[in-house]
Amino acid sequence: MVTQHIFSIVENDLNVLNSNLQSMVGARHPILNAASEHLFSAGGKRLRPALVILIARNTQANYNVTPEHRRLAEITEIIHTASLVHDDVIDECVTRRGVTTVHSMFNNKVAVLAGDFLFAQSSWYLANLNNLNVVKTISKVITDFAEGEVRQGLVKFDLNTSMNDYLEKSFYKTASLIAASCQGAAMLSDLDKNIQKRYYLYGKHIGLAFQIIDDILDVIGSNKDLGKPVGSDLKNGNLTAPILFTLQESYKLQKYIKNEFENDRDIDEAVNIICNNQGLKKAKDLAEENIQTALDVLPKPISSSNDEHFHALILVGRYILQQIN
Ligand code: IPE
Ligand code: IPE
Ligand code: MG
Ligand code: MG
Repeated sequence: MVTQHIFSIVENDLNVLNSNLQSMVGARHPILNAASEHLFSAGGKRLRPALVILIARNTQANYNVTPEHRRLAEITEIIHTASLVHDDVIDECVTRRGVTTVHSMFNNKVAVLAGDFLFAQSSWYLANLNNLNVVKTISKVITDFAEGEVRQGLVKFDLNTSMNDYLEKSFYKTASLIAASCQGAAMLSDLDKNIQKRYYLYGKHIGLAFQIIDDILDVIGSNKDLGKPVGSDLKNGNLTAPILFTLQESYKLQKYIKNEFENDRDIDEAVNIICNNQGLKKAKDLAEENIQTALDVLPKPISSSNDEHFHALILVGRYILQQIN
């Protein structure tokens, strides 16, 4: 696949990242150690670190990646993994990255502590970057996760949820980290404030598109191995873009959700309704609009010799859309 190129040009960087991550999340207590290491060794796509490295190479002379850029890439992956450990407790999700989730392997208390431990480790490494602006930008993301999860939890099965509520929640849960990671990479390259802001917006809209496509996958399932169960958003009453668009067209879907899927077959029926209306297409259009916005704001490379990495940042849009094709 042409979009694999995004990851292959940073493959060596991601190998270095993977081996560093193992040592960075070491804890004193063996249980915390096992819990926090568990998801890292299972893999994950490493999209956020790949973006940080690509922006570093796109904005530095001689494609140089500084040790600070590498550290930022590692920090973003630790923060992301911590958010998944907590999110899986909230969503009662039993598999992630193809392995048993931390709370299923241990219990909720251990998972909450392991997630906290990872957030705390990331803060320590963040502080040690000695760059106050990067600290301010990235640390805000951890508050945003909590805000996003709480907002989502408060509107389960709530038919009054608007598309704007959904997009704001998705910003807090997903786009904030990707935006801040992209901006952080630009900050470490000492770029103008205006250019930093454009990298932030690129990450924000890539992040929103990424969440919308994840939400479509959760409804339609996938031939690809996602490493996590599908169908959990409907079951949990998380009204995502494809569901919200279909609610505008289907009274029957409104009824199923209002009754919180009281009969066994209601969820399958709801999936059928979503797949046979325009909601999936409208959600995909919304993802495409966000990708277009991301590409419109993406700053041009500092020299034409950096084109390969610039091109990879553009391909990220296609990569996201390919997840559902
Ligand atoms: C999953 O993120 C959570 C969402 C924001 C949709 P990823 O799909 O990047 O998960 P990993 O890191 O590859 O496991
Ligand atoms: C994104 O939301 C998760 C986080 C940003 C923590 P989801 O709940 O849709 O993510 P998945 O589907 O569990 O990976
Ligand atoms: Mg989840
Ligand atoms: Mg999901």
